[in-house]
Amino acid sequence: MNKQRTAPKRKLSSRTTSKQKETVKLKPLEEKAEKTAASKPPKYWTPFSVKHRRKFERLLEVWKSNPELITIVNDNGVCFKKEFVIGRGSYGTEVYICLGSDGIERAIKRLPKFLCDKFLRTERDILNSPNAVESSRIVNFYLYDDTSNLDFDYLILDLCEQNLKEFIREEGESWWTESCARNMIRQVLEGLEALHAREPRILHRDLKPTNILVDVHGNLLLSDFGIGRFFPEQGATTYLTSNESGSPSWLAHECINWEGLYSDDMQKPSDTPLLLRWKEKSDIQVAGMLSFYILTKGKHPFGPKIDQLKNLHDDNPAGLSKLTDPVAKDLLSQMLAQDLDKRPYVEQALKHPYCLSLEEQMEFVAAVGNEPQLMSYNGVFRQLNNLDPSKPRSPLLPNDWKTVIGCDDLKILCEEGHRSPSAHDGSQYTDCLQLIRNTFQHRDGKLHRLKRKPPATSSLEEYFFQLFPTLPFVLHQIIREDPDWKTRPALKEFFPVINRHAVSGAD
Ligand SMILES: Nc1ncnc2c1ncn2[C@@H]1O[C@H](COP(=O)(O)OP(=O)(O)OP(=O)(O)O)[C@@H](O)[C@H]1O
Ligand SMILES: [Mg+2]
Repeated sequence: MNKQRTAPKRKLSSRTTSKQKETVKLKPLEEKAEKTAASKPPKYWTPFSVKHRRKFERLLEVWKSNPELITIVNDNGVCFKKEFVIGRGSYGTEVYICLGSDGIERAIKRLPKFLCDKFLRTERDILNSPNAVESSRIVNFYLYDDTSNLDFDYLILDLCEQNLKEFIREEGESWWTESCARNMIRQVLEGLEALHAREPRILHRDLKPTNILVDVHGNLLLSDFGIGRFFPEQGATTYLTSNESGSPSWLAHECINWEGLYSDDMQKPSDTPLLLRWKEKSDIQVAGMLSFYILTKGKHPFGPKIDQLKNLHDDNPAGLSKLTDPVAKDLLSQMLAQDLDKRPYVEQALKHPYCLSLEEQMEFVAAVGNEPQLMSYNGVFRQLNNLDPSKPRSPLLPNDWKTVIGCDDLKILCEEGHRSPSAHDGSQYTDCLQLIRNTFQHRDGKLHRLKRKPPATSSLEEYFFQLFPTLPFVLHQIIREDPDWKTRPALKEFFPVINRHAVSGAD
């Protein structure tokens, strides 16, 4: 059952307001200093994390008993010992818990200095950009420190509980509901929307389960922007690079050097350097892989590791057949498509019925029902009413919609309409759409009299959605193929057209 969108986006951070954030970022570098054993533990500690609570208790114990083991990085106390590590990455990254003098729990990412030009500074710049700062789907950046230690740079972030891989592994079955999975998928896409849908556009380039963080409320946040890139030019859609980067299993088709993989020749220095094309849609294909991973509690759409590259090469997301929800399957098959024209931009993916709330889906249904051309003998009319043998109506819709509503409810719904119950044809979905449209326009007192509704039904939208859960999706499938219908004023918001120029940037 489709559930509504969850709580609105949180502000910048659950605990750091935008104002605080500004203030922190404006601190001059000279003020930053790493000191050891210089300060006492904060007077107040606001326990927030569930998973890391014991680590913070231990940190405070160590701080009191052995303050020389505590390093202060710009008012945040950290103990660089194994027991306080909460994550590790490639190239020697270590992530520790740390506690601010304001009593707030944070995470500190530490990377050897010689690698920071390449990774940590890029990450800082992206995390500090308005696209990231203003999104609640991107991990909150607190500060960057490159002056206080000779060997390491530090990046301080809001603390999360774990990454998505750990979450799925550790939480077992308990967290998984269809609506929770849907919500997580939407959150990943909302994170990408923040990066892709406004200038300066940003490519993530390293989406994978360990780079998606889960906060204490179960929200997903994009993180690890070390190999992310700003598009150098406005409107660009392709980033050309000779560097093969990203993580195996989580790369889009166009970001893999297939020739190199299929050749058994050694690369010679005289060979023309290869150029890989990274696109926003590369992030989308990987987001499709992540969505499948969420829906299947940890599986990959291109199969087990041994088959993944071959299946990706052959445009064969073999796992998709396992999905039972046709709406999720439809969105994922678009996102995973090898053909870039079939892959949606993030704005388009977020308008797919799978990502719309129940209310938004029924708004779409009502908008179609309200179209002046609905009853004309056009392609949409023929398909909805199953009059075109070359384009049969989707079997996802019951053959006779009147039987689904039942005589008693139909009588109530037809009150104040122009047509009596018997004047409606159960095989014609254009009639059904008109009835829904009319009911929404004359809704007074009808809901509580209807019989075919579960007790908790709170709106006519929910009532119709429960009776015809696949109707918005089937309409979407029909209309997206019809260039005339999908550009109509009342419908075009559901089919966004994205015009980005084909400009390229290069490494
Ligand atoms: N803010 C945070 N809160 C909690 N855990 C975090 C946080 N940031 C990172 N981690 C943990 O540390 C791990 C490594 O961090 P991150 O992915 O940023 O490092 P990396 O070296 O860039 O990784 P990669 O191997 O992908 O290059 C993450 O997978 C996550 O488990
Ligand atoms: Mg990582």
